[in-house]
Amino acid sequence: MNAQTKLEGAAKAPFYQPQTDECELFEVAAKQDLPLLLKGPTGCGKTRFVAHMAAKLGRPLYTVACHDDLSAADLIGRYLLKGGETVWVDGPLTRAVREGAICYLDEVVEARKDVTVVLHPLTDDRRILPIDRTGEELEAAPGFMLVASYNPGYQNILKTLKPSTRQRFLSIEFDFPAMDHEVAIVVRESGLDENRVRPLVRLAAKLRDLKGQDLEEGVSTRLIIYAASLIRDGMPVERAILAAMIEPLTDDADVKQGLLDLVTATFG
Ligand SMILES: Nc1ncnc2c1ncn2[C@@H]1O[C@H](COP(=O)(O)OP(=O)(O)O)[C@@H](O)[C@H]1O
Ligand SMILES: [Mg+2]
Repeated sequence: MNAQTKLEGAAKAPFYQPQTDECELFEVAAKQDLPLLLKGPTGCGKTRFVAHMAAKLGRPLYTVACHDDLSAADLIGRYLLKGGETVWVDGPLTRAVREGAICYLDEVVEARKDVTVVLHPLTDDRRILPIDRTGEELEAAPGFMLVASYNPGYQNILKTLKPSTRQRFLSIEFDFPAMDHEVAIVVRESGLDENRVRPLVRLAAKLRDLKGQDLEEGVSTRLIIYAASLIRDGMPVERAILAAMIEPLTDDADVKQGLLDLVTATFG
């Protein structure tokens, strides 16, 4: 990659408002071939951060949304039948390893156990990916970087990362952005003006204070953007808040009433 294409990548990078020094940390990790783990609640900017940094560094990005059925073969690849012939087809991890791309495993704890096993040899200084099915042992191309995210907030003890896995990654903790940052993000993403965005962000802060008592998760930046976008499109404020910032948080009628009272108290 030459300096020119790198510059173009940076110009096209999706907007990302840094919280602290995470961009610098990512750059150093990328330069030194270190894997990176992003911890934090849903909708706080982890995926956007990775997309932004990949573009900024001019590296291709393969994102895999992990789910409880995702297996090592889904990442590595498999033999498929094509026109009567069996051909090997690389999975996203293998492609990233060959091309020197960034592979981002979103919500990695959701994936099946055999997935972490294939990650281990990629996270130490050997940087290799053994492919049992083909007998290949791939050495990661320069530029390959493993990034994973997970949400430690979910109270599911079966779904946390084992120490033997997490201690292979540099880790950054994400939280919802500080109020002024979050206002800037929501204004930018929704197009609603700042005067109308600020009360929504203030409401979100109050709703987040309830986390743990009645709510499992606080309202995400993503949901505030949804609410602001609805309002921007002409929807009444109360209706937008209900659809985007209340209903998604709870199915419990009493809890919902409590949240609505908070809306009334905030908006009058
Ligand atoms: N720091 C930020 N800079 C820019 N946009 C952000 C930021 N944080 C959140 N967002 C917005 O919120 C949305 C959800 O963020 P996302 O990265 O998908 O969250 P996560 O991956 O943590 O669940 C993004 O699409 C983006 O519009
Ligand atoms: Mg995400």
